[in-house]
Amino acid sequence: MKLIIINGPNLNLLGKREPEVYGADSFDMCFESLKNKFPAIELEYFQSNIEGELIDKLHEVGFSYDGIILNAAAYTHTSIGIGDAVKAIEAPVIEVHISNVHSREDFRHTSYIAANAKGVIFGFGLKSYELAVQSFL
Ligand code: DQA
Repeated sequence: MKLIIINGPNLNLLGKREPEVYGADSFDMCFESLKNKFPAIELEYFQSNIEGELIDKLHEVGFSYDGIILNAAAYTHTSIGIGDAVKAIEAPVIEVHISNVHSREDFRHTSYIAANAKGVIFGFGLKSYELAVQSFL
């Protein structure tokens, strides 16, 4: 089973960025622990702060991988382009958020991805990613 985690803008700063919201761990730590917990899964990671690069990556993996775990971060709430890419590809996409977006500002309650995602997981901190990986088992 081949899965990829795709993280959007500002998630390269995890561990440093608003730790009261996003926690004190870097994503590298989370990714290492996921690889240890799920040794049978071929797990990849891609992060970009650029909308078009996220769309290009979805196109690149979206017809051959078994699944995509996507935290499009702020683009979740703004990007029709990423939403259309999720609709266009074949691989199932799990939308993930670290924070509980529905307990935050109103603009975070809208998702251009959710309608075409297989499922959405949010509010469990970095554990949201682990729950998303488990959903493929
Ligand atoms: C986020 C929530 C988004 O609203 C925000 O813009 C992010 C991170 C999360 O993982 O909680 O950058 O996707």
